[in-house]
Amino acid sequence: MKNLSAMAFGFAGSQILYAATKLGLPEVLARGPITADALAARVEADPDALRRLLRALVVLDVAIEIPPDRYALSAFGQPLREGHPRSIRSSVLLLGDPATWQAWGALTSAVRTGETAWDHVHGRPLFEHLASSQELSGIFNTAMREGTGQVAEFVRIPGRTVVDVGGGNGTLLAAILARHPDAEGVLFDSAEGTADAPAVLRDVADRCRIENGDFFDAVPDGDVIILKGILHDWDDDTCVRLLRGCRKSLRPGGRLLVIEPVMPGSLSAPEASGVVMSDIAMLVYTGGRERTQPEFAALLAAAGFTLTQVSERLGGSPIRVVEAAGD
Ligand SMILES: C[S@@+](CC[C@H](N)C(=O)[O-])C[C@H]1O[C@@H](n2cnc3c(N)ncnc32)[C@H](O)[C@@H]1O
Repeated sequence: MKNLSAMAFGFAGSQILYAATKLGLPEVLARGPITADALAARVEADPDALRRLLRALVVLDVAIEIPPDRYALSAFGQPLREGHPRSIRSSVLLLGDPATWQAWGALTSAVRTGETAWDHVHGRPLFEHLASSQELSGIFNTAMREGTGQVAEFVRIPGRTVVDVGGGNGTLLAAILARHPDAEGVLFDSAEGTADAPAVLRDVADRCRIENGDFFDAVPDGDVIILKGILHDWDDDTCVRLLRGCRKSLRPGGRLLVIEPVMPGSLSAPEASGVVMSDIAMLVYTGGRERTQPEFAALLAAAGFTLTQVSERLGGSPIRVVEAAGD
């Protein structure tokens, strides 16, 4: 049953996960039961305060207590570890980071004024902020990667040269090229975005190149242009600008694949809560939004594309592939 007080206190759960992850507790707790004092010495924390944090992790089912005073990571808590196949470690670090935290604190102001909360709090847009903060940029890039690789198995690649525009560290492109041995790829993003890409693309390096640049200036030519998690970062006019550039670079007969959540027509749809929460996150972070299928069709038409099909939700997530052809 829904509980309003628990909802209002939700920030505490988020910061408890953040503190545990920032202190490196999941990795140590995963090695086997350890006393609070020994753990405090290992991670350089105050023993009493750490014991209290551990109790919180136990009641949240993230850790288990082996009485009288030993603790271990639970099965539920495993994805907090780095290297876990479904790791959410970087997402937890990104969501709990003081910069993200402050931006969420300005949601009221964003709703009042329509101004992006991040810009209001930090005085500049998220991607400019990331360009000057190597640590946050590294966390952001890894957080974007979490969950991205799995999408590749659902993506149809109708063409030879695949350009992943805003493709970050190349996780999606690496997975696509691994599944399509005849395809070649171009990863296009800012220099900060692709910082870790050479390592991620190592196994397909002979069929792939990395290009850095501003996707509002121009994007590389290709038979398949992918925009995953990109349009929802921007307002409509900015999206049309980016899409016109993609239209120019799409080779004859090529396809544009927009891969991101699609806002359902009804709020009672099973994916609605995930898409709506993501839409609020866009109001906080970037000034973008989640869009309905007719909204995507209108944006695409304004840039010279025709929406040809929309996939089912990928693996039960709110994400779909919106496919378009050049007019
Ligand atoms: C939300 S992330 C999505 C990353 C990746 N496509 C994924 O889904 O995991 C947005 C990406 O756009 C890149 N980006 C933002 N503004 C850009 C610009 N003007 N030119 C090129 N890349 C940009 C960022 O560096 C980042 O990698």
